[in-house]
Amino acid sequence: MQQSDWQRFDQQHIWHPYTSMSEPLQTFPVVAAKGVYLELADGRRLIDGMSSWWAAIHGYNHPRLNAAITQQLDAMAHVMFGGLTHPAAIELTEKLLSITDESLQHVFFADSGSVAVEVSIKMAIQYYAAQGLPAKQKLLTVRGGYHGDTFGAMAVCDPINGMHRLFENVLAQHFFAEKPRCEAGKATQASIESFKNQLAQHHQEIAAVILEPIVQGAGGMHFYCAEYLQIVRALCNEYNVLLILDEIATGFGRTGTLFAYEYANICPDILCVGKALTGGYLSLAATLTNERVAKGIGKQALMHGPTFMANPLACRVACASIDLLLESDWQIQVQTIETQLQQGLKICETLPQVAEVRVKGAIGVVELKHAVDMAEIQPKFVEQGVWLRPFGKLIYIMPPFIIKENELDKIIQSVFQVISELASD
Ligand SMILES: Cc1ncc(COP(=O)(O)O)c(C=O)c1O
Repeated sequence: MQQSDWQRFDQQHIWHPYTSMSEPLQTFPVVAAKGVYLELADGRRLIDGMSSWWAAIHGYNHPRLNAAITQQLDAMAHVMFGGLTHPAAIELTEKLLSITDESLQHVFFADSGSVAVEVSIKMAIQYYAAQGLPAKQKLLTVRGGYHGDTFGAMAVCDPINGMHRLFENVLAQHFFAEKPRCEAGKATQASIESFKNQLAQHHQEIAAVILEPIVQGAGGMHFYCAEYLQIVRALCNEYNVLLILDEIATGFGRTGTLFAYEYANICPDILCVGKALTGGYLSLAATLTNERVAKGIGKQALMHGPTFMANPLACRVACASIDLLLESDWQIQVQTIETQLQQGLKICETLPQVAEVRVKGAIGVVELKHAVDMAEIQPKFVEQGVWLRPFGKLIYIMPPFIIKENELDKIIQSVFQVISELASD
């Protein structure tokens, strides 16, 4: 097939995330990626401002990550995890336990972030069943959250901007508190009251609270303060409810700490990680938990076991990615990106199309007053030589940590340029 036919074939036959086969959006064929650059089939090079959805923190085609995979490939690409184990999974577990809170001692490897969330929900429900509290089968979460696209995960996504309406008769019914809100670093009384009321009323049915700490990602790129999390932790203890923190997007340095829960000096009972776990190379996620939950589930098996659980290639590249991160100056890199995003995106506030600019760690968000038209805006960024993937009213930048000042500058300039060309009414 000619390169010129790729796009047509792709549009006719392949679904991309959240797209329609009747009205497919334009896709851009990528043939290679290196560092922070994506190389298109037509030879154009784009500076990546997305890290392939929070994952490629070290950039693309990294020699250390490549070598980790090739070495593992020479030993074995995959082996079932039922009844067998392997060094890559053991080493990765050691690393995960050493970089997370010391109370987290047990790991379940899942194949994607959504599955890690499903597993966390099963852990919580099985835990309370084993404690003689089988009525605790529901979750409490907050509006504005996103936890994945599988049915268990969808049921705890925001009920308005998630997919609840489409699947309302199939989704489990859970409890929702208001979106976490903070003013001057303090949790607002209203958002705390809303959360507390739900717990007070329904705690006998609630197994766990599930939250994205500090940054709510795909549900709206909303940031909130550490105090809110501290209060949530205390309330979970008070009402005998487990706390699940979903760090699939925030984990591995993105917000400025290795894990976002560190801002609040608290720790979850169950932690979900994914995305940047493998430096964006392969699909792998993990659900970690403490002794109380793991042993509390008792003799009953934890009822999950995917075919590709703990895939050795994925585990090996995850080990290399964690090593690379810890050996790098990631705190300085993220801080430098944060400062540049704060200074550079400020000018967007002067545009009539813009409602708000906000920055946290290596995440820069420009919220517009109106939703963007993807078919119109996506090619404009490509013409500017950058890769960004806005959604709804949000144009956001979360580059690989290795991005250089001039490269990030180019992305920031393009954001300003493209927004200023949008209609301003
Ligand atoms: C916070 C959070 N949880 C869960 C998921 C789902 O992960 P995956 O797409 O790997 O299933 C995502 C993905 O964007 C996420 O941001």
